[in-house]
Amino acid sequence: MGPQELGPTITLLAESFAESSWMSSGYAKLLEFLIKQYVVERRSLVPHAVMLVGVYKEGEGEGELACTAEVSFDARGANKDPPTPAAPRNCPYVCNMTVKKKLRRKGIGRQLLRACEELISQMKTIRKVYLHCRLIDTGPFEMYTKAGYSIVQTDSMLILLSFQRRKHLMCKELPPLVDSQFDTSDDEAAPSDRDQ
Ligand SMILES: CC(C)(COP(=O)(O)OP(=O)(O)OC[C@H]1O[C@@H](n2cnc3c(N)ncnc32)[C@H](O)[C@@H]1OP(=O)(O)O)[C@@H](O)C(=O)NCCC(=O)NCCS
Repeated sequence: MGPQELGPTITLLAESFAESSWMSSGYAKLLEFLIKQYVVERRSLVPHAVMLVGVYKEGEGEGELACTAEVSFDARGANKDPPTPAAPRNCPYVCNMTVKKKLRRKGIGRQLLRACEELISQMKTIRKVYLHCRLIDTGPFEMYTKAGYSIVQTDSMLILLSFQRRKHLMCKELPPLVDSQFDTSDDEAAPSDRDQ
C-alpha cells in the first residue's frame, strides 16, 4: 500500500467491518476514524507486517482499489490484541482480507490470498501460514479450504459469553520456494539475506 492508497483502503476496511458486524453503512464513516489509527500504526511495522492492496482495472481507465489484506511475518509484526484461538506469534499470519462488494466472485480474493502467500514465501523460511475465519463466514471458509487451509482449532462455545463470534484458526503449509516459481527479477536480495 502506498500513501495514495491509504484513504481508499480505510474506506474499504470500514465498509467491510460495518458489513460483517451488521452495522448500517452510516457507521462506516465513524469507523474510518478508528481504522485510520490502526492502519497508520500497522504501516509503521514494515517489514514485520505489511498491508497489500489490489487495483481493478477495466479498459484504459485508472482503475479502482478493489481489495486489501494484511500480513504479519513475525512476532514483532503480530497484532497486540490477537483473536482466539491464538496463532503462533512468530509465524506468518493473514488478516483483514476484503474485496469491494461489487467486485466479489471474480477471483480477486483467491488472487489476493495467493499474493500474500507468495510474499510470505519470499520473506520467510517458516512455511506455515495462519489465519482466522468466523464459523458463520461460509464463503470465506470455502475460499480458504479450496486454497489448502485446514482447521487447527476452533473457539469453544464459551467465547459466546464475551459476545464474540466463534472462529476457526486455520493453517496452510506453503510449498518450498523454488527460485523460478515467482518473478524475482526486481529482487536483488540473496536468499541468505531473507528474514528467518
Ligand atoms: C471473502 C472474500 C474476500 C472473497 O473474495 P472474492 O473476490 O469474492 O473471492 P473469489 O471470487 O476469489 O472466490 C474464491 C472462491 O471462494 C469461495 N467463495 C467466495 N465467496 C463466496 C461466497 N459468498 N459464497 C460461497 N463461496 C464463496 C468460492 O469457492 C470461490 O470460488 P468460485 O467463485 O470459483 O466458486 C470476500 O467475499 C469479502 O471481502 N468478504 C467480506 C470480508 C470477509 O469476510 N473477509 C474474510 C474474513 S475471514
